[in-house]
Amino acid sequence: MSGSADETASLVFDIGSFSIRAGYARDDVPKVDFPTTIGAVLGREDGCIPTYYIDTKSDELPLENMEAVSPFKDGLIEDWDGFQAILDYTFKSLNAKSRLQPVLMSEAVWNTREKREKLTELMFEHYHIPAFYLSKSVVLSTFASGRNTGLILDSGSKYTAAIPVQDGNIIYKGIVKSPIAGDFITTECRELFQQMNVDLVPPYMIDSKEAVQEGSPANWNKKDNLPQVTDSWHNNMCNRVVHDFKSKVLQVSKTAYHENVAAKIPPVPYEFPNGYNCKFGEERLRIPEVLFNPSLAKNSPDSSMLGITDIVSRSIETCDANIQPKMFANVIVVGGNTLLQGFTERLTKEVFRKTPQNTRLKLFAHSLVPERRRLSPWIGGSTIASLGSFKQIWISKQDYEEGGKQCVEGKCP
Ligand SMILES: Nc1ncnc2c1ncn2[C@@H]1O[C@H](COP(=O)(O)OP(=O)(O)OP(=O)(O)O)[C@@H](O)[C@H]1O
Ligand SMILES: [Mg+2]
Repeated sequence: MSGSADETASLVFDIGSFSIRAGYARDDVPKVDFPTTIGAVLGREDGCIPTYYIDTKSDELPLENMEAVSPFKDGLIEDWDGFQAILDYTFKSLNAKSRLQPVLMSEAVWNTREKREKLTELMFEHYHIPAFYLSKSVVLSTFASGRNTGLILDSGSKYTAAIPVQDGNIIYKGIVKSPIAGDFITTECRELFQQMNVDLVPPYMIDSKEAVQEGSPANWNKKDNLPQVTDSWHNNMCNRVVHDFKSKVLQVSKTAYHENVAAKIPPVPYEFPNGYNCKFGEERLRIPEVLFNPSLAKNSPDSSMLGITDIVSRSIETCDANIQPKMFANVIVVGGNTLLQGFTERLTKEVFRKTPQNTRLKLFAHSLVPERRRLSPWIGGSTIASLGSFKQIWISKQDYEEGGKQCVEGKCP
């Protein structure tokens, strides 16, 4: 029986800075997967809660004064009203009954005690859930790979992090983190479009368009009576176009980027929403190269930023010598940014060069179903929450009533 048929089945929420993945334990994939950046229209009076527009169906309709906001900062909940709006939407879209269904939720490794307790309180006091469990997203990913020891390389939207896990426990001293991730690639693409004078027009502005020849100016008509939208909202709509571009056009070079090699890569055509279309050749390789060589970035905020290979090797070097071979033999690659074509092949080559002699290197990256890399914390959560033993680890309502919000510290390490 699918978990979704059962009114008391556990729910699994994987909370990311780019998207929220939510569904029923025992299902193979989440039922809903929607952007974390949401629309917010502020009320007229000071201090009142904004009206939120969530998910691609409602948040892509232009509205006067709607801002695009993310309730998260550095992967942690910052704006609790916005986060609550996301939870309301999640329960509703799963057709779930919060009073009956236990919830397993993922969290970033660097979550704080104060935020964990506040979240626990919110889940029991506001949503009245019967049981709750908070699990580090990296531990869920390790579990999803069928292991309990390994080095997780997670490259999502805001950060890339290497996090060693041994017997299900995080080795905190080995965590290495860098902002070289998906959002960084998005910014580099926008820089490229500016240099090429490509006018990035999101679909919400377009009434009609004509087919034009490759490289010719776009021929499109703007919608009449568009409301005055905010910069943040317009910018978010532009970034959604860039996300599509990244997944269809970019490719990580097989070896370190070199102009001569890049010049030979087959160009691929890409059509922008307003009909402008052109072919992309060497840029396809040049842009993602910043992941491996951040000094090539146009927008590098910090020249000492580590590239992906150094993130991995530095993290392993920080672990005790006796477990380093285990880490090299179990590098688990997860996160949406690793879906860039050619990413894992290049990473394998680069990390191999840093692997000591007589040490085995093995990367686990779900090559057959790459989407599982993006969904891996959710999949791990779904497995854990469907085990009979889940009841022994969760915070029950009774635990909460007896121990208060502080019980999250002991129950969910
Ligand atoms: N097919 C793809 N090709 C290239 N980039 C992709 C692809 N799919 C997703 N991405 C990028 O991956 C990033 C999102 O990754 P992911 O879903 O792992 O992030 P998250 O878990 O929501 O956020 P974070 O872990 O940073 O808090 C975005 O920058 C997105 O553009
Ligand atoms: Mg993530």
